[in-house]
Formats: sequence, structure tokens, C-alpha cells
Amino acid sequence: MRSWEESGNKKQNIYAARGEGDKRCKTTYLFVPFVTGREAIMIKSNPFTPQSGWEPRIFAGRHPQIISFRRTLSDCLERGPSHMVVLGQWGIGKTSLLKQYKKIVQEEGGLAALCPMSKSPKGSTVRDGIRLIIEEIIFGIPKLKNTQGFLETLEGAGITIAGFGAHFARKKRSLQPQVELTEFLLKMWPHLGTKLAVILLDDIQNFMAVSSVIDILRSVLSKEEVVSQCRYLFVLSSTRDAWEEFIDKHDPVGRFFRKREYIENLGAEEVGTLITNSLRTTGVTFAGEVIEQVFRHTQGHPYEVQLLCSHLYESQIEGTVTIKEWPHAFTAALRELGRDYFDSMLRKSSDRERIVLEVLAELDKEATIKEIQQALWRRHKNFPLENVKNFLYRSENKGLIKKAARGSFRILDPMLAAYIRQSFT
Ligand SMILES: Nc1ncnc2c1ncn2[C@@H]1O[C@H](COP(=O)(O)OP(=O)(O)OP(=O)(O)O)[C@@H](O)[C@H]1O
Ligand SMILES: [Mg+2]
Repeated sequence: MRSWEESGNKKQNIYAARGEGDKRCKTTYLFVPFVTGREAIMIKSNPFTPQSGWEPRIFAGRHPQIISFRRTLSDCLERGPSHMVVLGQWGIGKTSLLKQYKKIVQEEGGLAALCPMSKSPKGSTVRDGIRLIIEEIIFGIPKLKNTQGFLETLEGAGITIAGFGAHFARKKRSLQPQVELTEFLLKMWPHLGTKLAVILLDDIQNFMAVSSVIDILRSVLSKEEVVSQCRYLFVLSSTRDAWEEFIDKHDPVGRFFRKREYIENLGAEEVGTLITNSLRTTGVTFAGEVIEQVFRHTQGHPYEVQLLCSHLYESQIEGTVTIKEWPHAFTAALRELGRDYFDSMLRKSSDRERIVLEVLAELDKEATIKEIQQALWRRHKNFPLENVKNFLYRSENKGLIKKAARGSFRILDPMLAAYIRQSFT
């Protein structure tokens, strides 16, 4: 990833330039035009999408993942499926990437179903997990909902799905979950009328309480009849920690979903393009300095970029966002991040780990253990300094801090560091 500094000054001029007409954009005008002395400005509705699962107006980056996915599709048709998993932390763009995959499959003439896997309620069983997959696949492929013959075939195989309203009424079932899923995939295939069906199971970390669901999926997809009679490609998405836990619990899962796509933050250039292209035809511009700050603070985390830019957009004055508008928008974004993500991340820390985090956030740089101990000693005279290293490693395991080269540490996410500074000091 290129740093902002590396990407040079030249871009700042581009970022500062007002966007030109984008004919595809059909946003409605928010306000009637107002006059600024020389010209009338029309401001359009906010183009940013600060919401988990919302498709961004401008999809930035991810070129290697898209190229690789196209290759996976063609290999799948030629040689058979190589089921895969997309891995990344919260808000990094897993769902958005799956949506891009879906579009690509459809462009290529295949069928794709995007299936969100909701958190299993307390007391859920493996059977419920498999049932959820089946139901979401049916919801995800609109033509199946209108195929009475398909439903009857399922009933014949002992899989009863009553009604295609907002909810499926669940009747008494007798098949084992593994048999049910196998039968479902085999019986569905002839009704799809496609050369390839890609099933995108989003957020499978939600199966953690019934983790055997993933092992059953693996076992069903390995079955000879499924491989020989059908052409399904399964793409799962998960947080990295959860995936590692699945692998620890069900060893063959890791070997089966061998192809892993790790997604990380966007680069400086990608963030710049995302912002300027999103602003095109909105009537609003961000000063180059503002865009620079967005990257500096978010490090290209897509959700944080969208959230911060959305608040910045809301604070425009006569179509311009300058660095004067920054503090207010930044604080508003931090407040939302705290409520939606950071508070729950920090709740995983013990009191002492949290004190170390506060000190590290206050230092606001990569700090060595010695520097952290010195800062701690100045603020908390009774703190057990000899244990600092342990607290740091524990926070690293919780994904809150990162060990840099030369044995120094920093808070992984600069927005989290800012939130800690704001909340605890
Ligand atoms: N490549 C991208 N370009 C621009 N914006 C993106 C991109 N990927 C994701 N986003 C935006 O980032 C936010 C988070 O994306 P998304 O919901 O896809 O992430 P996620 O990893 O699925 O999150 P969660 O952990 O909540 O499931 C959304 O607002 C989305 O519009
Ligand atoms: Mg998601």
C-alpha cells in the first residue's frame, strides 16, 4: 500500500478540482439552487454510504481480487470448482466485494445468490444453520420462488418448505442436516438452467455457535454426486479470527476452502479516487487537505472513509468542505464509530490493558515498551510495569494494537486511538 506522502502533491490538485459531469449519476437535488455571488450551486444528496452492507456508489480498488475471481470462474467451468473464502475485519468491504462477485457472475451468464448468514439465535442447532443456508439460497435466486415444480421435488425428497412469503414456515423435518443439504443441492440444480451457480455465503462467522455447519457444507460439497452432477461454486466470507477458529475446530475445512482472499484497507490513491469520483456532479468539493486527513486518520478503512466523508459532506458550506469543517465532522464520526464498533472492541480489554491502551493512544506514535513504561509511570505510579509486555500482547491478540518492527507498538487503527484519547483522557 502506498502511503499518502509517497503518492505525492500532484494528486492534491486533482482532489481539489471540482468533479465533472457523470452522466450515469441520477441523484435527486436536495436543495433549490442558492446564489453565491457568481454562480448558482445545486447540491445533491449525500453520495457516501456509511452503513454495513450498503453498496458504495464508487467501488474502489480490489483489482487483484476481481482478476483472481474471474480466473476462479473460468477454472471452475474448465476443471471444477475451487471453493473459496473472503477474509477481513469488520467494515473492510467483505459484503461489497461479494456483491461485485455476484455482478461478475451474472455478466458472465451464470447465476449467483448472495446469502446473508444472520447470527444464530441462542439455542440454535446445526440443523437450523443448514436450514438457513437452504432458505437464503432460495431467496437469493428469484426464479426458484416461482417454480412450483421445484418445491414439489423438494417435498418429494422430504424437504418441506412451506410458503414463500417473508418467512418460511418450518414444518417437522426428518432428514439429517447433511442429507437435507445434499438432496437440496442435487434437486435444485436441474431447475437452475445455468452452466454455473455461485453461492455467496456472507458472514459465516455467525455460525460460530454451530460451527459444524461449515464442516457439513464441506462434506456435502465433496460428495461425488454433487461434484459430478452439479456445478456450484461456494464463496464464503468471514472475519479472520472466526475462520481460524473454524479451522482449529474442524481441521479439513481449511484444506477444503483452500483459496483465501484477504482484504485489507484501500490505498491512498484509491481513497482519493473514491472521494473525488463520489463527489462528481454533487456540487460539493473537498479541499485536498481534507482528503489527505481522511486517509491519514482512516488508513483507507472503507467503512471509516465512508462515515467520515458522509459527515464532511453534511458540513459543506456553499458546496465546499475545508479543513475548518474537519473537527466537527471528525468528532461526529468518532461518536458513531464508538457506539457501533469501538465500545464493544474495548469491552474485551481488562482494566489494566485499557490503561496501557490509553497511554499508547496518548503517545500517538509507535512506542517501545520502555517508552510506554515511562509514560505509565508518570501517570499511574502503582502500575505493575513488569507486566506491560503481557498486556500489550494480549491487546495485540484482540486486534487492538500492532507490533511494528523494532519491537515497538501502536494502536492498530488511528480512529480507535483518537476515540480512546477523546473518551478516556
Ligand atoms: N471497495 C470499496 N470502495 C468503496 N467503498 C467501499 C468498498 N468496500 C466497502 N465499502 C464501503 O465500506 C462500508 C463497509 O463495507 P461492507 O459492509 O461491504 O464491509 P463488511 O466487511 O461486509 O462489513 P461487516 O463487518 O459489517 O460485515 C460500506 O459503507 C461500503 O459502502
Ligand atoms: Mg458485511
